[in-house]
Amino acid sequence: MSSPTTSATAAPASGRLAGEVARRRTFAVISHPDAGKSTLTEALALHARVISEAGAIHGKAGRKATVSDWMEMEKARGISVSSTALQFEYGDCVINLVDTPGHSDFSEDTYRVLTAVDAAVMLIDAAKGLEPQTLKLFQVARDRGIPVITVINKWDRPGQAPLELLDEILERIGLTPTPLFLPVGIAGDFRGLLRRGEDGAATEYIHFTRTAGGATIAPEVSYTPERAAEREGEVWDEAVEESELLSAAGQDHDQEMFLAGQTSPVIYASAMLNFGVRQILETLIELAPPPRARKDVNGAERGTGDPFSAVVFKVQAGMDTAHRDRLAFMRIVSGEFERGMVVTHAQTGRPFATKYALTVFGRERTTVETAYPGDVIGLVNATALAPGHTLFVDKKVEFPPIPSFAPEHFATLRAQSAGKYKQFRKAIDQLDSEGVVQVLRNELRGDASPVLAAVGPMQFEVVTARMQGEYNVETQLDNLPYQLARRTDAESAEELNRQRGVEVFTRTDGAILALFSDKWRLQYIQKELPKLTLELLVAGTE
Ligand code: G4P
Repeated sequence: MSSPTTSATAAPASGRLAGEVARRRTFAVISHPDAGKSTLTEALALHARVISEAGAIHGKAGRKATVSDWMEMEKARGISVSSTALQFEYGDCVINLVDTPGHSDFSEDTYRVLTAVDAAVMLIDAAKGLEPQTLKLFQVARDRGIPVITVINKWDRPGQAPLELLDEILERIGLTPTPLFLPVGIAGDFRGLLRRGEDGAATEYIHFTRTAGGATIAPEVSYTPERAAEREGEVWDEAVEESELLSAAGQDHDQEMFLAGQTSPVIYASAMLNFGVRQILETLIELAPPPRARKDVNGAERGTGDPFSAVVFKVQAGMDTAHRDRLAFMRIVSGEFERGMVVTHAQTGRPFATKYALTVFGRERTTVETAYPGDVIGLVNATALAPGHTLFVDKKVEFPPIPSFAPEHFATLRAQSAGKYKQFRKAIDQLDSEGVVQVLRNELRGDASPVLAAVGPMQFEVVTARMQGEYNVETQLDNLPYQLARRTDAESAEELNRQRGVEVFTRTDGAILALFSDKWRLQYIQKELPKLTLELLVAGTE
């Protein structure tokens, strides 16, 4: 007879825990900047009655005060760096909406967030179509095996024909779009949605009415297809025809193919007018997967019913200038979390008390007493925790580390005043462990001016702003003339260091990186010295 404690099989949740797991949906909204991510987040919160009026979370001009802009830089640049999670109940479900940074310079953070969700909503601006960041994010979602629901936003504005956008998705991304709802009315004259049933047959017409400034939920009226035809005439007939065309092309929803990342259900919406927002929530609940077992470093599965485990995907300091604290956000993978429980930090083997556990959205912080798989919790002053780390109780588990992106921007950083060296060192270590930038060192340059490596230059701005704001250290940043990095090893390092336009460094995680002035230099060295180890770093893919 096998003992349950030594069993290697993943335990599915049972009893009350199973119920909590089944009703959870954890997802992120991803998009190219300006597609309407903040507006949609608000609209979702509005529908779940977390807020009573749009404008409460992101504080659009003329509306309520800003809540999520925690850093001066974010305000000045109109970007959101801070990653937060909004939890709300909708019907019988508990929805965890994990925020992602909008700007491509922070795509590494977005990637980390995507390790913490079970599905993604890809938002596309109807008029702009696929933009560079859209393509990259679709790729990342595919690499991570995350099912994607596509929302074509801003249908209230003139734009392309509905099927044109779908063709673009199919051709450029290789993902088959399978609309669940088609717009009734051309872009710019958005009247409502046609619900597609089996084989593309229209089953319902949902008509929306605008509200003043889109600040409240748009009233909906449901009509039968017959009534819709009488009411809307030609525009309804067009939508019906489009639905039939899609079915003829095999573009109907298939749950298995959606979960396998081969198809993407599509909804047309206007986040600003709150049209289609309820349908997005409905789709998430019906089609997005609940939390599932996750593979550990050895390939064994940790089932949702196994003892508690969680993975850290984001560390954020200085979210609240009054508190100067550091929050580690973790996503629960298995078991039930109870505040105060002592967990083990897999990377150090040390116990970790969870007395201060919070949910954070914008500036709102709420103490968490219990939480379940799929939920996101912020742990206060969890200094030892870094993205990719695992916490567990009982049965030991360690989840695979989150791969680092290939940096493309390099600069040295030093404290302007030598007297601040100690604080400078401390701050660098802190920002490094949070994953704000990668820190590279070599003997030649020493510790006083380490090299920062970033995916996008705005990461450097975050570093210098935080050095000054949190550590009171004025810094000098000097860009280095390197454009790309390759992973190498100790044997090749010596030879590489002798080459012009190349410099070798050790990253904090121990990886040895060779930086090259440009791709031609790299190609030349690869050709001349083919025996050297020069491996590609992860660039948004695993
Ligand atoms: P982001 O977080 O993805 O960067 O986008 P955000 O929500 O900030 O939206 C970008 C702009 O697009 C905003 O306009 C917003 O109002 C607008 N927008 C979002 N959804 C819709 C929509 O469904 N229809 C239309 N017509 N516009 C939409 P802005 O001028 O930059 O700001 P604001 O002053 O209008 O708020």
